[in-house]
Amino acid sequence: MGGLGLSGFVLFSWVLFLCCIFSVDGLSKVRGVNLGGWLVIEGWIKPSLFDGIPNGDMLDGTQVQIRSVVLNKYVSAANGGGSNVTVDRDVASTWETFRLWRVSDNEFQLRCLGGQFLTVNSEDGLILATAKHPLSTETFFIERNAGRVHIRPLNGGYVQATNNHLLISTYQFQPGWDNNLATFELVIVANNLHGDYQLANGYGSEKAKMVLEEHRRSFITANDFDFLSRHGINTVRIPVGWWITQDPYPPSPFVGGSLAALDLAFSWAQSYGLKCIIDLHAAPGSQNGMEHSASRDGSVDWPSPEYISQTLEVIDFLATRYGGHPSLLGIELLNEPSAATVPLDVLVSYYMRGYQIVRNHSSTAYVILCQRIGNADPIELFQAGIGLSNVVVDLHYYNLFDPYFATMNSSQNIEFVYKMRAPQLQDLKAMNGPLVFIGEWVNEWDVQNASQYEYQKFGSAQLDVYANATFGWSYWTLKNDMIHWDFEWNIQNKYLLFSGSSMLKTPSFLLLLALGWGIHLIIMPR
Ligand SMILES: *[C@@H]1O[C@H](CO)[C@@H](O)[C@H](O)[C@H]1NC(C)=O
Ligand SMILES: *[C@@H]1O[C@H](CO)[C@@H](O)[C@H](O)[C@H]1NC(C)=O
Ligand SMILES: *[C@@H]1O[C@H](CO)[C@@H](O)[C@H](O)[C@H]1NC(C)=O
Ligand SMILES: *[C@@H]1O[C@H](CO)[C@@H](O)[C@H](O)[C@H]1NC(C)=O
Ligand SMILES: *[C@@H]1O[C@H](CO)[C@@H](O)[C@H](O)[C@H]1NC(C)=O
Repeated sequence: MGGLGLSGFVLFSWVLFLCCIFSVDGLSKVRGVNLGGWLVIEGWIKPSLFDGIPNGDMLDGTQVQIRSVVLNKYVSAANGGGSNVTVDRDVASTWETFRLWRVSDNEFQLRCLGGQFLTVNSEDGLILATAKHPLSTETFFIERNAGRVHIRPLNGGYVQATNNHLLISTYQFQPGWDNNLATFELVIVANNLHGDYQLANGYGSEKAKMVLEEHRRSFITANDFDFLSRHGINTVRIPVGWWITQDPYPPSPFVGGSLAALDLAFSWAQSYGLKCIIDLHAAPGSQNGMEHSASRDGSVDWPSPEYISQTLEVIDFLATRYGGHPSLLGIELLNEPSAATVPLDVLVSYYMRGYQIVRNHSSTAYVILCQRIGNADPIELFQAGIGLSNVVVDLHYYNLFDPYFATMNSSQNIEFVYKMRAPQLQDLKAMNGPLVFIGEWVNEWDVQNASQYEYQKFGSAQLDVYANATFGWSYWTLKNDMIHWDFEWNIQNKYLLFSGSSMLKTPSFLLLLALGWGIHLIIMPR
């Protein structure tokens, strides 16, 4: 009797535990950490990944301007592209800026503002800004010498400026590096994309495979999951790129192997009692033009019907593979779509279809919808009526990336968290719609040389306020060369005072007990 009473109690606790651990009702919300820069590359997280690339300052998407050293004028694509090219501008702006598409270490295509590529007119060798799709006829050797370049189409003479300010590829000799019409100054004006595309295409397939295999194997390991589970973390949010569906042989230049790594992450999560959120960080075509969406050159081509249906196939693939996995907590359909380039109605329709696909494979997995970044209010997703159950809206809270924060001191940053973030969370909660997830935040700000004590206060304020997010939060990011972003560094150096709660320990103890008693009840003859 006593034994049955106890086992009844234990079983009851077990059931309670199972339904409450992620009931997100205040008992135990998501306390997560992002595995940023692992299966989706972000150069700033680990710059050394790019160290071995020849001409590493001329990766895909690098913005360059070209100035004739004789005419002292910049090369310009009239109207940003679509017609002729002239060498007549004193000052370089958008028409005079070209984005590189890298073909090899020293062969490049040059893309204009309007999206066209520079090409050679076959009749007279004039350079025009008219090619829609770059082929070998749009590919140029670029020879460098200090800041100077010679430019030569694969077939043809060197490109030279003419005295009537055109650009023509008829220079038949090897030009010297003195001032001559075939010598230009190459000005690199922006080189801020360091993602999977730049890394893989920069190294070329063989070397990229070696670099990425080593990175995926060593950057995050089972030891990190152990660390997280011992420090009160219950979830990892794992950014993945669309090419994961075509493992092990994704389209060039992407490198296979991220699927095997994700499988490993799920098995570590299971071993250490963590849950996983799969986050589609990089969609085909790029949803925000940033390196972490694997954009080639900063363009945002995602909101096209072909890319959207390809993206839904990615969600179907992920939901099919992991929908029944005990460690799956949720699938985030798309990270940080850009408000400037992704229309709300297109996004909402994608989210609705994505929700259905996930639901088809799991009745319980949370379906997570990221807010648009830029000029958009997350309320738009609460008003859209997407999905019936277990829907979550993900907000990213950074006191960074906006001039608004640039002059704030430490107390003003903390005040902002209490006066602006907290009420927003209250308002969204009051809408009784989807749950709210602070899927990214960090213990870093624009305050220069803040003390450990100031960081502790900032971190604690954020933890205090974000604890009210109805789904929970997830820190960006587990590891980072910039130490203040690095979760492990923050914990080990006591810049972030977070120890989690003892809540996790009791239930897993109860779970073991309950499992024991369950087995006991099944095998003991009555
Ligand atoms: C280049 O194209 C622009 C716009 O089509 C035209 O106005 C201009 O005259 C052209 N310049 C040359 C040098 O052909
Ligand atoms: C859900 O599954 C059913 C049955 O397999 C299928 O007919 C339907 O198209 C699926 N819906 C979505 C949105 O994938
Ligand atoms: C921050 O700035 C405010 C407003 O200028 C000021 O009142 C406050 O003393 C400053 N706090 C710190 C810690 O510097
Ligand atoms: C921060 O510290 C660095 C190095 O100690 C120093 O050079 C810099 O001037 C400091 N910045 C501010 C804003 O105090
Ligand atoms: C959290 O929410 C509760 C109730 O909604 C509110 O009273 C409290 O002030 C909030 N705490 C923070 C730190 O925002």
